[in-house]
Amino acid sequence: MPSTVILGTGSYAPDRVLTNDELSHMVDTSDAWIRTRSGIRERRIAAPGESTSDMGVRAAQRALDDAGLTAADIDLLVVATITPDMPMPAAACLIQHKLGLPTTCACFDLNAACSGFVYALDTACAMIGSGRYKKALVIGVEKLSAIIDWQDRTTCVLFGDGAGAAVVGMSPAPNLGLIGTRLGSFGDGAELLCIPRGGSSAPSTPESIAARDHCIRMKGKEVFKLAVRAMDEAARDILEQHGVRADQISLVIPHQANLRIIEAISQYLELPMERFFVNVDRYGNTSAASIPIALDEARRAGRIKPGDLTLLVAFGAGLTYGSALLRW
Ligand code: UT7
Repeated sequence: MPSTVILGTGSYAPDRVLTNDELSHMVDTSDAWIRTRSGIRERRIAAPGESTSDMGVRAAQRALDDAGLTAADIDLLVVATITPDMPMPAAACLIQHKLGLPTTCACFDLNAACSGFVYALDTACAMIGSGRYKKALVIGVEKLSAIIDWQDRTTCVLFGDGAGAAVVGMSPAPNLGLIGTRLGSFGDGAELLCIPRGGSSAPSTPESIAARDHCIRMKGKEVFKLAVRAMDEAARDILEQHGVRADQISLVIPHQANLRIIEAISQYLELPMERFFVNVDRYGNTSAASIPIALDEARRAGRIKPGDLTLLVAFGAGLTYGSALLRW
């Protein structure tokens, strides 16, 4: 059977670096606290006027170049984001226009928060595998700096901006590319990580804006515990489903939320940290952009070779989770 494969990857991070020390002048925190509790040293922040779609375009162009394709080849665009340029229309349509994708290209956004790229990759591969689409662009992109409460030290130190992208197509070779996924969600935990106001159930009011209730709110400790459990289970499930032992995975690309979460999964899976790609120290948590940025950096650093098995594993608001097994 032919396979749905990743033909190229690309990523983009804004130039502006926001360090922990700078944050310690904005809220009551310290470089030591942020580093020891999360592993984050710095994060990137979009330039004034730089939008989610602008960042998505930069990452997508690099993925197209890597795949040796042009905008004209793409007939499907899936954008995973919780920070579209505006509530409507989809960021995908703005990216389509800026990139010059054909008007016959299907374009839509997908919201699965930090699991967004794994969900979007699965969606694109299924649509490509159906034979109705030929080449897809899958983008994970966030401008979280726009929805952070910069006065809330429990969240503002964690997040950053950036974009990652992959081009998906078919290969005649069997058993390559996306081998399988395991997606799910714990909707009963939705309130643990959310933006309470500004949606249709509770539109913003002057009072709610003054209280910054249109910004991210998170019960960090609870989310941490659920993230470790769900990511461990999603990883184990997909390995079991496909008869793969953990030690056959050459590289795990986990969602980059917290180094301690990644270390816990490394312990539970009994896989050394050398088999985990980590860049949370440089970017913080970029939600849907985190896995595709890491995937692109891992490929460009030569950490993924033909024949390798790679495991993606994510957890985020929803509370969504997802794992994906890829053979290169
Ligand atoms: O991407 C979606 C998934 N997201 C995640 O997976 C994030 C999951 N959660 C986490 O990564 C961690 O829970 C945090 C990094 C957010 C927090 O680490 P923690 O070890 O769970 O700390 P905590 O929330 O229990 O807070 C410990 C203390 C508290 O003070 P008290 O109550 O012990 O006096 C906080 O008020 O640290 C305090 N604190 C801070 N201190 C300095 C919280 N934030 C800060 C801060 N700087 N930025």
